[in-house]
Amino acid sequence: MYDEPGFPRDVEPEEPGITLDTFVYCSRASEGVDDAEVDRIIEFSQRQNASRGITGVLVFGSGVFFQWVEGPPTEVQKLIVSLHGDSRHFDIVELDRCVDSRERLYPAWGMERVEADDLREVLQDALESTEDELNIAALKRIFEHLDSAPMASLGQS
Ligand SMILES: Cc1cc2nc3c(=O)[nH]c(=O)nc-3n(C[C@H](O)[C@H](O)[C@H](O)COP(=O)(O)O)c2cc1C
Repeated sequence: MYDEPGFPRDVEPEEPGITLDTFVYCSRASEGVDDAEVDRIIEFSQRQNASRGITGVLVFGSGVFFQWVEGPPTEVQKLIVSLHGDSRHFDIVELDRCVDSRERLYPAWGMERVEADDLREVLQDALESTEDELNIAALKRIFEHLDSAPMASLGQS
């Protein structure tokens, strides 16, 4: 996945094992939130996250969001507060949350939009590219969530 065209290659490698807050959740998009609005969220997030050291992926499909957010604990905590106050989505369900010394899973993605059909592939690539046991355990928990309702529709639509 890291060889795809357009993938930024000039990313500074970080010290392995910095303290990262990882927040993974799903939520339901509010009425009126369409593809164009999601593109606006991505554009805003890429700018904002770059200055906050946050990286991750955002998936939108069948009216459901899935987002993997990783970054410095104080910045991620601020973002979580913002996310909870954002009327463009609701029913936020935390799927995973860890503050730990670990590697970033998406070091080059300020916030990448991923199609729901590609969610499993993106997570599988991440699983294969990390040797970090905490990341591996978190990804396995996400796969378990995806295999159970209501997330089962994501990635299969
Ligand atoms: C599904 C979803 C994902 C979002 N992801 C991010 C993100 O990664 N980074 C970000 O800065 N804002 C993101 N936002 C926007 C925030 O919820 C919020 O509007 C923005 O951070 C500004 O917050 P503030 O007014 O509290 O500063 C997202 C919004 C939605 C609905």
